Amino acid sequence: MIRTRILLGATALGAALAASASIAQEREFRLGLITPPAHVWNQEVEALSETLQEMSDGRLSVAAFPSGQLGSEGDMVQQMQTGALDMAWLTTAEMTERVPDIAALHAPFLVDDIDEAAAVLRSDVAREMLDELPGATGTVGICYAMTGMRQLMTRNEIDAVDDLEGMRFRITPAPAIRTFFEMLGAAPAPMPLTQVYDALANRQIDAIDMDFESIINFRYYEHAPNMMVTNHHMFGMVALVSARVWNELSEEDRAMIEEATQMHCDSTIDRFVAEEDDKLATLHEAEGLTITEDVGAEFFGDIVERWDAEWAEVTPYVGYLREFVADLRD
Ligand code: BEZ
Repeated sequence: MIRTRILLGATALGAALAASASIAQEREFRLGLITPPAHVWNQEVEALSETLQEMSDGRLSVAAFPSGQLGSEGDMVQQMQTGALDMAWLTTAEMTERVPDIAALHAPFLVDDIDEAAAVLRSDVAREMLDELPGATGTVGICYAMTGMRQLMTRNEIDAVDDLEGMRFRITPAPAIRTFFEMLGAAPAPMPLTQVYDALANRQIDAIDMDFESIINFRYYEHAPNMMVTNHHMFGMVALVSARVWNELSEEDRAMIEEATQMHCDSTIDRFVAEEDDKLATLHEAEGLTITEDVGAEFFGDIVERWDAEWAEVTPYVGYLREFVADLRD
């Protein structure tokens, strides 16, 4: 009788422990982004949460903090280093501050169009650079995606490259992007995405370096009514997990997060590739916007050679990626 009661007690204790272990493993990951809720990244992060919930029977999910609510991209990297933030979807531009090799993804005219950009971001040579992230940033890079190709938007019309001289150009803070605008004689003004609309509206800047998705979301053409379709660099994203958080996860959870995140990096890239032309068509409808299409590298003189000469000293990936694209075209 006593023995039975002890056994029953042990079974009940085991069940209680198992239940509490599974409760302890329930987790809502906090994920930060600089982009607003309407952006494709944010939509895909919402979908990522649903995918993770399905894969984990509701145990794992993601709560998004959009529009720079948690601070700048640099702030979010710091928060991931301490484990205060679990995940973030950040620009490749931000990561170049700590992993200079990634600057090669911003090489001017590395790719001709968004299809080539997608191929580069899915390449082994680009993936290789993610291996540097844990040591350099305290984050784990799961995959790349993008926000399309970048264009130039200016308050005044541009007829020749010399018109860019002295122009206060908002850029995403990143040395490789700064080099491009400095070499053109412009005055680069590094500034986070969240400040760009107001800076244009109050004439703190004359022009911006931007992608179709953001131009549509923020209606920048209200204050910069000239757009040159240059496709002068691709604008990548990296899906990151705090290395501290990653190291505490079970192998099973890591595998689920990896698979789900990869799925949504892929669908982000696929959507940008599929929708880029439609976005340009939408912008053709925007009131007051003058669009000059097909502005190629030749408009910018020898910028590619000059930029490469400077950045090939910093990273061999400039050469590796140019070689990858040349092979792609063969
Ligand atoms: C930007 O800094 O221009 C930017 C950042 C994230 C998404 C789109 C644009």
